Amino acid sequence: MQKILIAPSILSADFSKLGQEIKDVEKAGADWIHIDVMDGHFVPNITMGAVVVKSIRPVTKLPLDVHLMISEPEKHVESFVKAGADIITFHIESEDDPKGIIKLIRYYKKKVGVSVKPKTDIKAIEPVLPMVDMVLVMTVEPGFGGQAFMFDCVSKIGEVRKIFKKDIQVDGGVSEMTAADVINAGANIIVAGTSVFGTKDYASAIKKLRGGS
Ligand code: DX5
Ligand code: ZN
Repeated sequence: MQKILIAPSILSADFSKLGQEIKDVEKAGADWIHIDVMDGHFVPNITMGAVVVKSIRPVTKLPLDVHLMISEPEKHVESFVKAGADIITFHIESEDDPKGIIKLIRYYKKKVGVSVKPKTDIKAIEPVLPMVDMVLVMTVEPGFGGQAFMFDCVSKIGEVRKIFKKDIQVDGGVSEMTAADVINAGANIIVAGTSVFGTKDYASAIKKLRGGS
């Protein structure tokens, strides 16, 4: 059976002690650190940029998984690469030239993900699927942590799995109650903000998300 990877989203961490929070989730069994970058334009919220990636890079050995919810993402790829990003995911809705940004991320030898918002048909990403390592299926409207999981997105995970054999990541409202649904639908990487950082016992939360008790 394929290993399920858990990527805690630091958006729900305590920013006053971000380094310690990252060390704690690493020790608790996290596989990747998910970093939500928002620009107040592509989405209505502003979060963090490359400077945060740079400051947390020395704190953990885990891959830094950067989720760009920004307009004109291509302009910012280089700064995130230089800051230490390992995986860079952009939104198909934000990029006029998706093949251009994919080639740029590849040029820097980083993993490439393409993401779809809940209302976006997967037809939009079909032309670039042969070029990417990962598809990120959003199960909330991007912009904020702590939103309710959208069950009607589960069928989309299955649709992607039929035509894409590499990594499928799911992000938004995933909890121990919904993790099994997304895994059964074909996802192998789970992003979780509230359902990890909102608990007292990160190890137990991560284990439950992976399918253990
Ligand atoms: C939403 C972000 C998510 C979010 C996850 O726009 O991309 O990564 O922070 O947080 P939860 O798990 O609380 O929905
Ligand atoms: Zn995210």
